[in-house]
Amino acid sequence: MLTGAELKNQVDNCVEQIRRVTDFVPDVALILGSGLGAIADEIDSVASVDYHDIDGFPVSTVSGHKGRFVFGKIGETKVVIMQGRVHYYEGYSMQQVVLPVRVMAGLGAKILYLTNAAGGINTYFDAGDLMVIKDQISSFVPSPLIGENVDEWGVRFPSMNDIYDREYVEMIKDTAKDLGIVLRSGVYIQTTGPQYESIAEIEMFRGFGADAVGMSTAVEAIVAKHLGMKVCGVSCITNMAGGTPDKPLTHEEVKETADRAAANFKKLVTESISKLS
Ligand code: HPA
Repeated sequence: MLTGAELKNQVDNCVEQIRRVTDFVPDVALILGSGLGAIADEIDSVASVDYHDIDGFPVSTVSGHKGRFVFGKIGETKVVIMQGRVHYYEGYSMQQVVLPVRVMAGLGAKILYLTNAAGGINTYFDAGDLMVIKDQISSFVPSPLIGENVDEWGVRFPSMNDIYDREYVEMIKDTAKDLGIVLRSGVYIQTTGPQYESIAEIEMFRGFGADAVGMSTAVEAIVAKHLGMKVCGVSCITNMAGGTPDKPLTHEEVKETADRAAANFKKLVTESISKLS
């Protein structure tokens, strides 16, 4: 575990290396989940930086997860996009998993827009649905704030009330309505993975009030909230959690559904981001 000073040094170092490539100051940080990376390929980018080229930056090993920052505008909104993120199950410490959020805040981002692929727990959901995240459960993963607190970033014991900005949740719902996109709303629960959940675990999570489950996002939201950023998020429900009795869940199925939902996902995310300028 790094000390506060070491951690801050690492973040500052990453920011400095990116600053050698671009002086672009983003307002919004957008993290794209598995299979949802196409948005970054399609915007008018002013610069991009591969994670590999940033000394000390965590790099993903999972297929379907690219690894680069893309800088540019969506509408009039200045964004830094993470095309690919690292996950706790890859073996990184939580401090490293959330490092990118702190780096993007260091670049100037005040808003974090999270996206992910998730399994549907709510039985009213279908594979291919989109869900705006209204709250989260992170109790099954280690807190990313464990370790020495960096007071400059935030307080030791931050409140997690309204992690997901209520105004943004409503704005994303309105945007979906205007676009004619069916949008669910619900609570996201994070697990460490990499294994998918057992049927008993899904039953338990449902009892806890979770609507969707995935292996990212909640810890990133905690760190952003700690930093005082505004946070919002959209999940792509790529499958019903646990799969179906005759067809166990696979990563391929997750990627296929993400591809199928990509057009609506892209419309909703780009349209709602353009309203954040
Ligand atoms: N469980 C956990 N993570 C996921 C799932 C799931 O069912 N689908 C996509 N990511």
